[in-house]
Amino acid sequence: MNEWILRSSGPLRGSIRPASDKSLTHRAFLFAGFADGPCFVRGALRSEDTQASLDAVRALGLDTVEEDAAGIRLVPSSAWRSPGEAIDCGNSGTTMRLLAGAIAGMPVSATLTGDASLSRRPMKRVAEPLRLMGADIHGDFAPITVRGGDLRGIEYHLPMASAQVKSAILLAGLHAEGPTVAIEPAASRDHTERFLKGIGAQITEEFHLDGRHSVTVQPTERLAAYDFTVPADISSAAFWMVAATLVADSEVRLEGVNVNRTRSGILDVFAQCGVNVRLENERFETYEPVADLIISATPNLKPFEISGDLVPRLIDEIPVLAVLATQCDGTTIIRDARELRVKETDRIATVAMYLRAMGVGVETFDDGMAITGPRALTGDTIDAAGDHRLAMAFAVASMIAEGETKILNAHSVATSYPDFDKHRRTLQGGSN
Ligand code: S3P
Repeated sequence: MNEWILRSSGPLRGSIRPASDKSLTHRAFLFAGFADGPCFVRGALRSEDTQASLDAVRALGLDTVEEDAAGIRLVPSSAWRSPGEAIDCGNSGTTMRLLAGAIAGMPVSATLTGDASLSRRPMKRVAEPLRLMGADIHGDFAPITVRGGDLRGIEYHLPMASAQVKSAILLAGLHAEGPTVAIEPAASRDHTERFLKGIGAQITEEFHLDGRHSVTVQPTERLAAYDFTVPADISSAAFWMVAATLVADSEVRLEGVNVNRTRSGILDVFAQCGVNVRLENERFETYEPVADLIISATPNLKPFEISGDLVPRLIDEIPVLAVLATQCDGTTIIRDARELRVKETDRIATVAMYLRAMGVGVETFDDGMAITGPRALTGDTIDAAGDHRLAMAFAVASMIAEGETKILNAHSVATSYPDFDKHRRTLQGGSN
């Protein structure tokens, strides 16, 4: 559906398992190309973004992809091949950046294209380190052409905390001569490190006192085959976490959510605000910590501050946390989040524009924003073209807004959460 017309919501209640983790599904699909035998992926996120990764690795290095009720079986071929046609990464930055690193280490070449939003996003951040390693890369924006092979290990200081850039360097490093070191100014999500270590790569990490994070990978020809279970995505759970906090009398249970510390910055924000949240059934599912989250409506919220190393731990949740800030008593400050400017949209500009349209006072900075609450929201029209998280964040805002909120191009949620609207209806008890 292209357009949602939403009104304020009654209490959200019940239990769902939010969409499966997008970052982990990308990795579970892409890493099969490096494995030495058939791999199995359970609970994968089937969305436009992850389909792009599956199609890409199929074009490059998988012989078969078979799906049944239990999951997807991926069989790597004995050697990677150069695809005859360009690989379309759609809206997915993770596909394009991780793939660039993977291809750089292999004796193949490929051209990577993307949609209008992805074609505006910077690819120089991966091209630069890969060129230093010896890869031949044309283009700093999509389409980019990567000619791989004969790499040397480097020590590279990332100018920003980015799991996509770090992962691209580590994947290239698997096939480089000598060790490769990626050093980021703050730790970004560590799914690649956990996964690659789990399937036999030699990876070591160092956390420096000033917040920097170094990861070293040693060259490894082939990695072990795996059976991987994908947990639910905290970035998708975040919409219901904020909605249940804000809508009076709500209580929701979100099952099997990945609570990896490099992703769970929203729980730190909830602690600052005083939100009622409980973790139950904490456990491990293939390399990642998982828990059920129980969130209930919380009045008298305190404002919060997001800055420094908290930013990479909740980077994708900032649009919906900005909605939370509108109901906190005082000024919430978000800084050090310049990366938001190069996401699917410039999320500092788009979030501020639509919050203002709904009646909220927002000041923007180059690297963040200040939001003063609590404010009564009024419905407006939000265009989510090219940005799934904008559609979902403002669907949450509509639940506490007066009047009607229209979300145009709502189909963008298919990028990461195809069942979002279905889950909304379930938690709202079938209303709307
Ligand atoms: C991702 C890393 C983050 C995040 C993106 C997915 C990943 O981007 O915003 O949605 O899967 O590695 P950066 O690492 O570029 O900040």
